[in-house]
Amino acid sequence: MSKDQPKTMGQQFGRRSWAEPWKIKMVEPIRIKTPEQRLAAIEEAGYNTFLLRSEDVYIDLLTDSGTSAMSDRQWSGMLAGDEAYAGSRNFYRLEQAVRRYYGYRFVVPTHQGRGAEHLISQALIREGVTIPGNMYFTTTRLHQELAGGTFVDVIIDEAHDPQSQHPFKGNVDLQKLEQVILEVGPEQIPYISLAGTVNMAGGQPVSMANVKGLRELCDRYSIKIYLDATRMVENCFFIQEREEGYRGRTIESLLLEFCSYTDGAWMSAKKDSLVNIGGWLAINDEEVFEIARNLVVVYEGLHTYGGLAGRGMEALAIGIEESVADDHVRTRVDQVRYLGNLLASWDIPIVQPVGGHAVFVDAKSFFPHIPQSQFPAQTLAAELYLDSGVRSMERGVASAGRDPETGEHRYPKLELTRLTIPRRVYTQAHMDVVAESVKAVFEGRDSVRGLRMVYEPRYLRFFQARFERI
Ligand code: F0G
Repeated sequence: MSKDQPKTMGQQFGRRSWAEPWKIKMVEPIRIKTPEQRLAAIEEAGYNTFLLRSEDVYIDLLTDSGTSAMSDRQWSGMLAGDEAYAGSRNFYRLEQAVRRYYGYRFVVPTHQGRGAEHLISQALIREGVTIPGNMYFTTTRLHQELAGGTFVDVIIDEAHDPQSQHPFKGNVDLQKLEQVILEVGPEQIPYISLAGTVNMAGGQPVSMANVKGLRELCDRYSIKIYLDATRMVENCFFIQEREEGYRGRTIESLLLEFCSYTDGAWMSAKKDSLVNIGGWLAINDEEVFEIARNLVVVYEGLHTYGGLAGRGMEALAIGIEESVADDHVRTRVDQVRYLGNLLASWDIPIVQPVGGHAVFVDAKSFFPHIPQSQFPAQTLAAELYLDSGVRSMERGVASAGRDPETGEHRYPKLELTRLTIPRRVYTQAHMDVVAESVKAVFEGRDSVRGLRMVYEPRYLRFFQARFERI
């Protein structure tokens, strides 16, 4: 059901529907709380959806991280765990899967993505260096800053415009990047921080042409490229769908080609790879690998488990293989687009084009009367929960945090509320319920007031901050 998909199931207008390439074998009951219980729960949570208890949530679209459903093959892998402290057979399976599907030489397992971000940042960043990248991600940038670096955004301008229909809004602006290189000097740039389907931009992809151009530019200045491969599989789907010359190619071959233009990658396997916890760092350069392999024993665990159980590494190796299947990726992304197109058809402002893992509601346009200093995206997440028990996440000024130099709020151009879809978990009917709830809040938007922050933790404040209604 690509771009012009029908508004409801069954309205197929001369074409045949797709369906998910799986059937449901086990279910987990969910219940909706009463409006009074929801009000008590969100007040108790300080109007922060991260602080809600999951049993108070009806449909949980907080994140697609660690929330996907494993297959029967992955669950059977969980019984094949080799729980040896050192040299677990499951580690070698994982290493083989990363090499085969992502193409890198050396693999270091980590407990999740930020574990790998920590290692690569500590291995490569010195005090005072600059790390250019295609828009920040919260944990990624923090690890770069804690290691002494400064992140500089070099994504194309279209990424900051929710209405721009650019097909590859995740692209690096190569001119902006070259300007940064010339300003600070190539030796002051340890690597480019490149992300597939840029999360904070709305799940927007990077084209193959862009990564090729980036490789050429970086080769001229001898700069390395490290990839945040967290949602790279979903990125490859957009290349397959939209980029000239790549239409007949498999996701598997696109993934290998894309990664081949980079020097290494970190991964939160909790997303694309269909496991509840896990990550890795992969590197081609043997010297950098040795540093990372040494650091992992300090922060994560021995280099053949890195904070994971043997069974978890087995499920992850299987998940990687399942994640690159073309029919899986297509139905995954199309479910996200089904929700997005439904909202757009009711003139609810969302980031366009709809991205790979989530629908991002443009909270600035949704609540034009709430200034950004009163957290419109946080407000929308709270209102949505109050309306229907649907949990979403703020991706705006609370997530952006404060500038480490000035201590002021960073006001990002994008002030978004993210409806994030776990993989293989919810049905189209759940998407209809979510869409109708967003519509109900939209219809009552004029009477909604903003929030004030009453508690602010030092790091990654959005996770634990508390708010009050104004
Ligand atoms: N990179 C990206 C692009 C991410 O989206 C995340 C996590 C990470 C790195 C860090 O990985 O959570 O395994 O430590 N994103 C989650 C989200 C939290 O909800 O978008 P992690």
